[in-house]
Amino acid sequence: MLVKIGLDLGYANITLSNASADIYREPSVAIVDKNTRRILSIGARAALKNEGEEFENGVMIRPFKNGLLYSSDLTAEIVKNVIDAVKPAEKIRCLIALPSDFLPKQEAEMFSMLSAAGVSEYFSVKRSVAALIGAGYSPLISAISVNIGASSTEIAVLHKGEILTSVRESIGGEDFDKAIKQHILEQGDMNVSLLVARTIKEHLGAVWQGRESESIDIEGTLSLTGSRVKMSISTEDVVGVFEKPLKNLILSVANVVKKIPIEYVNEIFENGVVLTGGGAELYGLDTMMSKVLGISVTKPHNAIDSVAKGLSRIHNFLPSKKKLTGKNITSQIAKFYENAHSKQDTNTSASSDDDVKFDIN
Ligand SMILES: Nc1ncnc2c1ncn2[C@@H]1O[C@H](COP(=O)(O)OP(=O)(O)OP(=O)(O)O)[C@@H](O)[C@H]1O
Ligand SMILES: [Mg+2]
Repeated sequence: MLVKIGLDLGYANITLSNASADIYREPSVAIVDKNTRRILSIGARAALKNEGEEFENGVMIRPFKNGLLYSSDLTAEIVKNVIDAVKPAEKIRCLIALPSDFLPKQEAEMFSMLSAAGVSEYFSVKRSVAALIGAGYSPLISAISVNIGASSTEIAVLHKGEILTSVRESIGGEDFDKAIKQHILEQGDMNVSLLVARTIKEHLGAVWQGRESESIDIEGTLSLTGSRVKMSISTEDVVGVFEKPLKNLILSVANVVKKIPIEYVNEIFENGVVLTGGGAELYGLDTMMSKVLGISVTKPHNAIDSVAKGLSRIHNFLPSKKKLTGKNITSQIAKFYENAHSKQDTNTSASSDDDVKFDIN
């Protein structure tokens, strides 16, 4: 049996999807033995520990910082762990989403890790393009895809199936967590972990008005005494804290928008910006970005799933006979999509490999 999977190795989350767009997500965290550097645990179990904290023989790491590899050995082991979750499939065809600034050498390294993990066919696509498709759009449209992760933001400008630009900026959801952490330190002389700051951001944070007022209980340590304390924090306590990362994020998008050749502007502005990734879930970000940039900004439901959904969707319109192993298929996406659709028009009894399933949103 051939199993098609999509794989996205993010800074915060490892996401796997199958051809029907069922999504499996694990935190991208590993506990590594300080002496032997062997992985002691990965995923949800490892994420329960505090980042940076040392315990027993282990130390916590985030293996995919800034879209790059923390260490080849560890990445290979993590990839093997993830692929083992798909086994005992006889044959695995894996499409991996990669950052736009991944070097050919790094891509080749990633492919050999997949091969070593038992994947028989592997190929890649730029993350921002997969994200746009996963948000429900055809790769033939004109739009600006902005995928905001935890550590970075991938921006791509598409014009009728052609990718005009794609860049990665080092700004993401964690910069907003850091802003909360800093604010609590300055205002309350209290240290909270990045995990606590992230929870506050997700439950109370907003960059536009309208979020319902709410409070949550948090724990931290007083900077003066080091004693552990609990306190309640509410939506009003974090108003205005995101100014700096928000400005940097919007500037990153504006810089790309500014460089769109004049002859393409009208068509691209028709669809405007499509926001995806977990970072896009920040309350009011779509509205704020639209007001500042003066263009339409849309965000699909469950924006955090867009890359994974896009990988599933791409799998379903790839030509089944074509050997794609070891290739980056980004520039061919539009052609594959068009071919699959014209084939569908003339041949309704396509083989199961050619089945185009679009019921993903
Ligand atoms: N409801 C929410 N409000 C605000 N932020 C959210 C929400 N849900 C998730 N996030 C943020 O989304 C980020 C994780 O998103 P995602 O899984 O897309 O990142 P990633 O792919 O692992 O990171 P990267 O793409 O940078 O490697 C985290 O910073 C998280 O706090
Ligand atoms: Mg991501």
